[in-house]
Amino acid sequence: MIVNGSPWFDVAGQRINAFCGGVIPADGWWWWYGSHYGDGPRGNLAEVGITLYRSRDLAAWERVGTILPVQPHFEHDLHRGCRLERPKIIRHPDGRFVMWFHLVKPGCSHHSAAAGVAEAAHIEGPWSYVGSFQPDGFMLRDMTLLDAGGGEAYVIYAGGRQCRWNRTLHVSLLARDWLGTSGAWTFALPERMTEAPAITRLNGRFWLLGSGCTGWNPNRLRSAVADHPLGPWYELGDPCAPNIEPPDALGYRCQPANIVTIPGWVDRAVLMADRWCAEDHGQNRHIWLPFSVAGGRPRMSWSECWTLPLVRPP
Ligand code: DGJ
Repeated sequence: MIVNGSPWFDVAGQRINAFCGGVIPADGWWWWYGSHYGDGPRGNLAEVGITLYRSRDLAAWERVGTILPVQPHFEHDLHRGCRLERPKIIRHPDGRFVMWFHLVKPGCSHHSAAAGVAEAAHIEGPWSYVGSFQPDGFMLRDMTLLDAGGGEAYVIYAGGRQCRWNRTLHVSLLARDWLGTSGAWTFALPERMTEAPAITRLNGRFWLLGSGCTGWNPNRLRSAVADHPLGPWYELGDPCAPNIEPPDALGYRCQPANIVTIPGWVDRAVLMADRWCAEDHGQNRHIWLPFSVAGGRPRMSWSECWTLPLVRPP
């Protein structure tokens, strides 16, 4: 049973803390990874790193550990207090797991926002930090990855340069090893200042969800569709059915993080989202909602409690 808005706990009774990440099936398990957020208003500054859980059924989660920990030495990119947000993991055809994330190195300005990249032979690790860079010369903030099949993968990110940051989503084809970009890229939803991108392929089309750009505050969600990751992308409006919560609860007071495709589901999936509490990130909550593209339009509706079938990984 999914209970949105409440703390979620692992099988050891500890609160699950893996925000703005994703779920990926591999080697007979579902793997849930995300950024650990601490308590208080500065809980978004990384004091732990990227955490990993595993499950056989998407319901009972066992904590595996911290797979990409922050580092104690100040000169390291991942030093405690860096911003380590929006991690996404995909598996390369050669078997490696590749992780990209939004990184602001400690003591650097938001303008230094870049991609951090790591790789591992096994999702539990050990993970090797490859480095950080600004893809195609652009800043990178909120981001997601798409494994488009056939060895092709893309990074979709809120980009921009200098004072025009976050204005437009960029879609970049990754290099063959998925550790950089290939140089082929395009814009999506230009000048719309879209954050929190989440992407999936359903019914043969690519569907993109995102949010507006208002810090930690809720805002109206947005959606788009394309027949190819490099576009053209067509914006389709807010996928949220009229909020049953107060009118200020735009986007159900959450931001998209990832879309999980479920074996046997044809035009539906699960949206993983985050409900932020800027005053105390210890009050952040995981929100999972059914997401449908039936009839050619993305649709979501708010469910405080709903039943996600116990599903074994493909
Ligand atoms: C909203 C983004 O989605 C988060 O990842 C984070 O960067 C906050 N903004 C910071 O204000």
